[in-house]
Amino acid sequence: MNVYLIGFMGCGKNTLGKRLSTKLSLKTADTDEMVKERLGMDIPEIFSRLGEETFRQAESAVLRAIPNHRLVITGGGLPCHDENMKFMKERGFVVYLDLPFEMLFARLKEEQNKRKRPLIEHLDEEALSEYIRRTLEKRKPFYEQADWVFRPLQQTTETLIEKLKTIQP
Ligand code: S3P
Repeated sequence: MNVYLIGFMGCGKNTLGKRLSTKLSLKTADTDEMVKERLGMDIPEIFSRLGEETFRQAESAVLRAIPNHRLVITGGGLPCHDENMKFMKERGFVVYLDLPFEMLFARLKEEQNKRKRPLIEHLDEEALSEYIRRTLEKRKPFYEQADWVFRPLQQTTETLIEKLKTIQP
């Protein structure tokens, strides 16, 4: 079985994913990295040259190609397309990393965090705040289908690790 880590851009999936993979002795798979490799370019380039639809198709395809027994770090939009949420729940255990709007906004307004994300890189602070609110609202019904919601402000990572140990095959 796989463990899938989902959540909005900037919620910290990479950092948490690496920690979990070490603690649980699982290899990681990162869908953004796999898409880059498959299409042979960076994400901003994929969006500008091939379009978002091609990116979405590629991320759904790489998701289905991940072998078993991985800690999977997913792109923020992945659970909301192509029945990916259903696929992940059938294939493993899905953890939603839920960070409050204010923290997402504080992180995503930083230039180095915006730069690599084509959906937000052109937005000023007001537009970014609006984008996060609107997009979170649309995505939450997908995210909230996760098997486990992890709120790092209220729970320790140890609690999550203990939970994941109990669902390991
Ligand atoms: C996206 C999130 C990004 C990346 C792409 C689109 C999204 O991944 O897949 O820029 O639609 O939320 P991160 O969640 O790792 O930033």
